[in-house]
Amino acid sequence: MSRYLIVGGSHGIGAGVVDQLLASGSEVVNVSRTPSHVDDVRYSHLTLDVTTTQLDATQLPDQLDGFVYCPGSINLGPIRQLNRDAMLQDYHLNVVAAIECLQAALPSLRLSGNASVVFFSTVAVGQGMTMHASVSAVKGAIEGLTRSLAAELAPKLRINCVAPGLTETPLSERFLSSDQKKSAMAEKHPLKRVGTVQDIAAMVTFLLKPESSWITGQVIGVDGGMSAIRG
Ligand SMILES: NC(=O)c1ccc[n+]([C@@H]2O[C@H](COP(=O)([O-])OP(=O)(O)OC[C@H]3O[C@@H](n4cnc5c(N)ncnc54)[C@H](OP(=O)(O)O)[C@@H]3O)[C@@H](O)[C@H]2O)c1
Repeated sequence: MSRYLIVGGSHGIGAGVVDQLLASGSEVVNVSRTPSHVDDVRYSHLTLDVTTTQLDATQLPDQLDGFVYCPGSINLGPIRQLNRDAMLQDYHLNVVAAIECLQAALPSLRLSGNASVVFFSTVAVGQGMTMHASVSAVKGAIEGLTRSLAAELAPKLRINCVAPGLTETPLSERFLSSDQKKSAMAEKHPLKRVGTVQDIAAMVTFLLKPESSWITGQVIGVDGGMSAIRG
């Protein structure tokens, strides 16, 4: 049976990944600050804030077939409002903690022989968007990290990155809090809707599974066409 570590599987896209993995018969360990109420013998939860406490490798299963790091931020604003503390917080949550969690999981992932790691970027890295300076900087770092680690850890580990467009989750709630906002956002996308958790989780699950075993070092846009098509 395949076994996966999801950091941030309590809600949003990570919870969708947990659901899809359990439905496919896999075991899942979820690490997040708040326990979720998944009732399944193949599911376990570790309560942890990854920005204040490092993940303890001894609490993880001996062998892991995949790892997904979900925590992220969408702090938007003009350059004049950027401040050092907020920028460092963004970098800590999106990049430093992702690397530290992977370091903890690495011994278990190496034992698998063909493990897969998935990080998250955003559509706002490949396409310049106003007010996105901080988030595009940290997610740009994740895209570089993805390619660098894919080179370093091949052939035993594959490292890929999913770059979503706006997707309905607790993180994006403030941009989609009314029907008016939702249809304005949908209209910006060539496919005329915003993303669902299932849209993004399906790509993550594919990247975790052996079906994607010849894909590594990639940043894959799941964004309703926004990164590639002029609307
Ligand atoms: N939603 C979008 O529109 C969108 C667009 C582009 C990119 N993305 C990226 O996609 C990824 C997933 O986004 P999402 O919308 O699903 O996010 P989300 O709804 O905020 O979910 C994040 C998950 O991470 C956990 N988490 C957050 N901070 C944590 C911490 N300090 N320690 C441990 N766990 C923590 C949360 O659980 P707890 O709160 O229980 O800790 C939750 O399970 C993010 O990296 C985001 O930047 C999202």
